[in-house]
Amino acid sequence: MPFLSATLDRVKPSPTIAMSNLAMDLKAAGRDIISLSAGEPDFDTPETIKAAGRAAIDAGKTKYTVVDGIPELKSAVCAKLKRDNALEYEPAQVTIGTGGKQVLYNALMATLNPGDEVVIPAPYWVSYPDMVQLAGGTPVIVEAGIDTGFRLTPEALEAAITPRTKWLIFNSPSNPTGAAYDRDALQALTEVLTRHPHVWVLTDDMYEHITFDGFEFVTPAQVEPALYDRTLTMNGVSKAYAMTGWRIGYAAGPQKLIAAMRKVQSQSTSNPCSISQWAAVEALNGPQDFLPENAALFRRRRDLVVSMLNDAQGVACPTPQGAFYVYPSIAECIGKTSAGGQLISDDEAFAMALLEEAGVAVVFGAASSRSATANASSSDINCPPALVLPMHSAIEG
Ligand SMILES: Cc1ncc(COP(=O)(O)O)c(C=O)c1O
Repeated sequence: MPFLSATLDRVKPSPTIAMSNLAMDLKAAGRDIISLSAGEPDFDTPETIKAAGRAAIDAGKTKYTVVDGIPELKSAVCAKLKRDNALEYEPAQVTIGTGGKQVLYNALMATLNPGDEVVIPAPYWVSYPDMVQLAGGTPVIVEAGIDTGFRLTPEALEAAITPRTKWLIFNSPSNPTGAAYDRDALQALTEVLTRHPHVWVLTDDMYEHITFDGFEFVTPAQVEPALYDRTLTMNGVSKAYAMTGWRIGYAAGPQKLIAAMRKVQSQSTSNPCSISQWAAVEALNGPQDFLPENAALFRRRRDLVVSMLNDAQGVACPTPQGAFYVYPSIAECIGKTSAGGQLISDDEAFAMALLEEAGVAVVFGAASSRSATANASSSDINCPPALVLPMHSAIEG
């Protein structure tokens, strides 16, 4: 009898791990390594939010809380969804988890049965397909390539939907491409979804506040009210408020789904950290003026990075509309040899050569489109060889 769960056979270890291990080895050996592999803002959590965390400790708010979040934070989420997204939710329709990641995982665990399909546009955030696999579902990877600005087309969505489709995972602005859907582009997708009432929408709005050039963020339930009863709107404080380590994410959706997610959380982690919840109340209710300032900082970095990458021979970098990544194609470098004499056979080989020869650690694009999906029903995704670079302060020099 095997000791390890058969479920784990379906889940591939993160293809980025080899890269970060190698980066760490090189650092330990004394090499000067610039690491561009982690997706988090490099600035500190704002002082008012840190103060709210300290005040929670001093006030003894250090005990168990309601499993899926304190009422104050649920109310702050309702107010935020109304203020920023014109969405009306009651606190009973809101759940708080240990990061957006747990919220997504709870939703999939609470709803997927064997054979259920989840449509995931590629390039995607590396965790989606593996989370679906862990929850017993089948990821259906649909190409949203460079020719459509890395946006899923209504035709591709229509073709991917089957009677077994349970969810579409929708992430705008996207990790890793930075592609975002304006109202018209999103409406084209919601029109398809309204024709398929069995398909639910799991929308990952993590990068809502990091958009550029006047882009107006919109989310599916806001654009198409008919989808309200089958949409889970997920978001969190990690990226916008520089709170990745505090681990608070949230979602709003139909009460029945929220109750099922609470059940999953009650038998795994129980409540998210009480202190972090109080800090998140301050994040959502407190001053919001630094959000556009941070987005402007990321835009300046984006402009610098995109122009420098496009100046580099063999690299073509589209301009992202949001999030803090760039997704440059290195298709023209494939088959060539690096300065150090290594054959660039694919994007992983490029990333390895970049790390070994130039001391820069990045994630290779295949991690977000092809090889991460052990049992995805579509493995032949035609995304160009690419790299993923978070726009850290390291880039500004
Ligand atoms: C698209 C996307 N969704 C969700 C998450 C997870 O966020 P959290 O740190 O709140 O779990 C990330 C983090 O990288 C992300 O990029």
